Amino acid sequence: MDAADVMDDLSEVLFTSDQIADRIAEVAAQIDADYEGREVLLIGVLNGAVMVMADLQRAMRSHVEMDWMAISSYGSGTQSSGVVRILKDLSVDIEDRHVIVVEDIIDTGLTLSYLMSNLASRNPASLEIMTMFRKPEAAEMDVPVRYVGFEIPNKFVVGVGLDYAGRYRNLKDLAILAPHVYA
Ligand code: IMP
Repeated sequence: MDAADVMDDLSEVLFTSDQIADRIAEVAAQIDADYEGREVLLIGVLNGAVMVMADLQRAMRSHVEMDWMAISSYGSGTQSSGVVRILKDLSVDIEDRHVIVVEDIIDTGLTLSYLMSNLASRNPASLEIMTMFRKPEAAEMDVPVRYVGFEIPNKFVVGVGLDYAGRYRNLKDLAILAPHVYA
């Protein structure tokens, strides 16, 4: 789905699919360089990170493995609930592995800080974070984020895996959702 398909629901396109693909390629090259000689395990957070995970690993030139976790975050609203619960745990043991958590977006960072302490307790060899998008509040959080695709304004956005009430994940561009859609 392109922004043109749902234009009435969007107030602004922040990044086109081409801009996103270019930035993912840059981040992938950076990860390849940083982890040269070490195999990376990417952990995606369902469902939002699905698109970023697929694109990031295809843009990488080194071998990579992936696994998934599902944790509760937003319901169908636009505010973080602060309630974090593991709905699906990893299938693999991450002890002594080089792990990068792949996120779609970091807003308050609540979800991520819980996830990081949980993963750190499993003794990975290294543990870093890649997020495609980051909102301003998250830039101040304690958890250091090694790879950031784009900094974005504090608006509710959809596309590139991000949804509103289950919709718009398949939008290829990243756009601000028009308030009339959720008002
Ligand atoms: P946090 O715990 O506030 O950082 O929220 C993280 C999760 O909330 C993300 O992984 C998304 O699933 C969701 N989220 C945060 N901001 C947005 C947004 O602007 N659009 C869609 N989902 C969002």
